[in-house]
Amino acid sequence: MVFLSLNKKKGIFFLLFKYSPVQRNEISLNLQAFSIVNLFTLLIMKQNQIEELLNKREEARKGGGEDRIKSQHKKGKFTARERIEKVLDEGSFEEYDMFVTHRCTDFGLENEHYMGDGVVTGRGTIDGRVVFVFAQDFTVFGGSLSETFARKICKIMDQAVKVGAPVIGINDSGGARIQEGVNSLAGYAEIFMRNIAASGVVPQISAIFGPCAGGAVYSPALTDFVIMSEKTSYMFVTGPKVTKTVTGEDITTEDLGGATVHSTKSGVAHFRVVNEDEGLLMIRKLLSYLPQNNLEDAPQTECLDPIDRIEDALNEIIPANPNQPYDVKDVIYLVVDDHEFMEVHQHYAKNIVVGFARFNGISCGIVANQPNYLAGVLDIEASRKAARFVRFCDAFNIPIITLVDVPGFLPGSLQEYGGIIIHGAKLLFAYGEATVPKITITLRKSYGGAHDVMGCKQLRADINYAWPSAEIAVMGPKGAIEILEGKKISEIQDPREKVKYLNEKELEYKNKFANPYDAARYGFIDDVIEPRNTRFRIIRALQTLQTKKDSLPPKKHSNIPL
Ligand code: HXC
Repeated sequence: MVFLSLNKKKGIFFLLFKYSPVQRNEISLNLQAFSIVNLFTLLIMKQNQIEELLNKREEARKGGGEDRIKSQHKKGKFTARERIEKVLDEGSFEEYDMFVTHRCTDFGLENEHYMGDGVVTGRGTIDGRVVFVFAQDFTVFGGSLSETFARKICKIMDQAVKVGAPVIGINDSGGARIQEGVNSLAGYAEIFMRNIAASGVVPQISAIFGPCAGGAVYSPALTDFVIMSEKTSYMFVTGPKVTKTVTGEDITTEDLGGATVHSTKSGVAHFRVVNEDEGLLMIRKLLSYLPQNNLEDAPQTECLDPIDRIEDALNEIIPANPNQPYDVKDVIYLVVDDHEFMEVHQHYAKNIVVGFARFNGISCGIVANQPNYLAGVLDIEASRKAARFVRFCDAFNIPIITLVDVPGFLPGSLQEYGGIIIHGAKLLFAYGEATVPKITITLRKSYGGAHDVMGCKQLRADINYAWPSAEIAVMGPKGAIEILEGKKISEIQDPREKVKYLNEKELEYKNKFANPYDAARYGFIDDVIEPRNTRFRIIRALQTLQTKKDSLPPKKHSNIPL
């Protein structure tokens, strides 16, 4: 009785008043016994409930079981949960839908259920900022995608868009769960739809740490950045076996869709990492440069690197011989905060360099022609690479700094047949459409169509600087003189006279155009600056442009040449 509440005690007292003292005593004893037994039962039930929960959690955490986890580790791969633990801030992960199981009743699947159904989903934080994450669990049906699996991913993607937080997807899967048939295909399409809806709203990052084949490749392809681990990951629409049957081509998995192929030849992978640890750290680093969503700015960090740091080496960096190359990354490292530059697509289209860095703590995208590789010429791959990067920066309010040293577009039938016109137009379009702050610095060559494409004034660059070594013209002196003086040159018989005449004319052309002052005379260049002051000039320009407002006319969407 002591455990009963006051009201219950009162009720029992009035109840007992109706009976004789002996009866009352008996009833009272029975009641006491009942209450204690009842309470005990309740307590045990409660204890069992908690145990049941803990057991279920334990079971879910085992995924496909110890043996499959061991096999995963043997392949040099982490499990889905280990990956999530590593990418997120310690202890920040909140799992969703741990108890979901599939609903398939075919091919014996009705007797085989694993909690979570092959994908671990949820949210957590990275550097204290919310992110949503899913990791496919290869230990459960080879990480293959079922209807419920897809729903779990869709749930976190929907929530990520609502709250405005990035989505990280870790892929390691045998593709569509074969036993589920079209339900699995529909599941993929549900995810694709959300990838598309989230594009340009929240950053989406994909890590490929295992197989990713068939239509499954399209979800990562729709995201902003793809990271692939060497030797353990591959991506292809059609695998080696079908390739051999259909085309007769004999090719290994690695050569068809490994990390090296996609980071150098196809450009599908923006980052190639030696192992998963490096990849997971890379995700954290990449996010540090990005805002949470398209309505926010990237976080501005504290900058201890002096903003007025003078770099005398920059005054000497451009070789005297205009045809001699130099590494534009040396220029980048010298001007950015703490010499830190996160290069994107490092191994693909090396004639253009793109990546993230900070100026006075402000996150910026850098696009730079690379004279060290193919003389920095623009070709199909370089145009596609830079266009996609410029569009990403513009979608997420990241200012663009362009460093120009470009001799022009790569000539030749391979380029023309491959559609350099369309691909070059992509870059032109991307720059013209971008409304974020745009600062362009011409270091050396800026010739022809490539001049227009690389963030010129008329493509709405906000501030255009040039170094004294800049050469801004329709084309290089040699080509120009061959066209302008062709007839005259062919008439000169004496070879020495011919060379002398050519040199004179080239010098004349150089004096007129191979400098920044002709462009500056028209206001296409806002100022010619001393190279060593470049960092300071960029930072001051960025500070001015922080409140920039610019927009495009209302439209459903543009029709960028794809
Ligand atoms: C169901 C699958 C599966 C799948 C693998 N498993 N893929 N179960 N559906 N798609 C299961 C296996 O039966 C096995 O179960 C476990 O996962 C591990 O697979 P293994 O073959 O033992 O592993 P491994 O040798 O490492 O080979 C991995 C693999 C291979 C290369 C991914 O499993 C494979 O080729 N799977 C089929 C890939 C495929 O063709 N998928 C469909 C693609 S078409 P147990 O019980 O033995 O552990 C597609 C269309 C998408 O995805 C369209 C979207 C629009």
